[in-house]
Amino acid sequence: MAPRVALLAGGAVVLLLAAVAARASNDEGDALYALRARLSDPNRALRSWNPNVVNPCTWLHVTCDHANRVVRLDLGNSNFSGSIGPELGRLVNLQYLELYMNNLGGEIPKELGNLKNLISLDLYDNKLTGSIPKSLSKLNSLRFMRLNNNKLAGSIPRELAKLSNLRIIDLSNNDLCGTIPVDGPFSTFPLRSFENNSRLNGPELQGLVPYDFGC
Ligand SMILES: *[C@@H]1O[C@H](CO)[C@@H](O)[C@H](O)[C@H]1NC(C)=O
Ligand SMILES: *[C@@H]1O[C@H](CO)[C@@H](O)[C@H](O)[C@H]1NC(C)=O
Repeated sequence: MAPRVALLAGGAVVLLLAAVAARASNDEGDALYALRARLSDPNRALRSWNPNVVNPCTWLHVTCDHANRVVRLDLGNSNFSGSIGPELGRLVNLQYLELYMNNLGGEIPKELGNLKNLISLDLYDNKLTGSIPKSLSKLNSLRFMRLNNNKLAGSIPRELAKLSNLRIIDLSNNDLCGTIPVDGPFSTFPLRSFENNSRLNGPELQGLVPYDFGC
């Protein structure tokens, strides 16, 4: 190949890679913008979320890594209402999802189980209903799961016992029922993580089939 042709070919590859990279960041921007559309934001916390920029990394409350991938969403205590929606499941690089102390309603989307890199899921102090999705047991990196002070019902999915990195769980002040798992990380969690769930019946007896009493 003549040097000029090689240069042109190289340039085309660089342009193609840049286009792919921009498209990938836009997917995350689109997912965040879909979240914005679901939220009522009386304090205008999301006013910097402009969909016309190349990626969402300059938006307030959004943190990216060196490759412009979204790794943190810090939207706690922001007076939002509305619902969370399935789109957040597309932020596959997310490590911290902080939506605590708002007025969010609706269910926890099962799509959050796609966030393989998630370390912290903080949804406490909202008005979330429905049950805890089983899919959260796919969050192998998860260390902190705080869903306390909501209106969650149903039983605690046994599958969550697979979360070997989980250090802190708080499910207190909900409407959960059944029994508390005892396997895996659940052997270390204090009972206060589960208190004030009037229909929850204490830890499972080891060796017995889980019995969802009252569920
Ligand atoms: C939250 O938003 C409501 C309007 O929806 C407003 O009346 C209230 O003052 C706001 N609270 C705070 C703490 O900003
Ligand atoms: C128990 O949890 C419910 C639901 O979150 C809450 O409304 C209530 O204030 C809590 N009660 C106590 C004593 O903490």
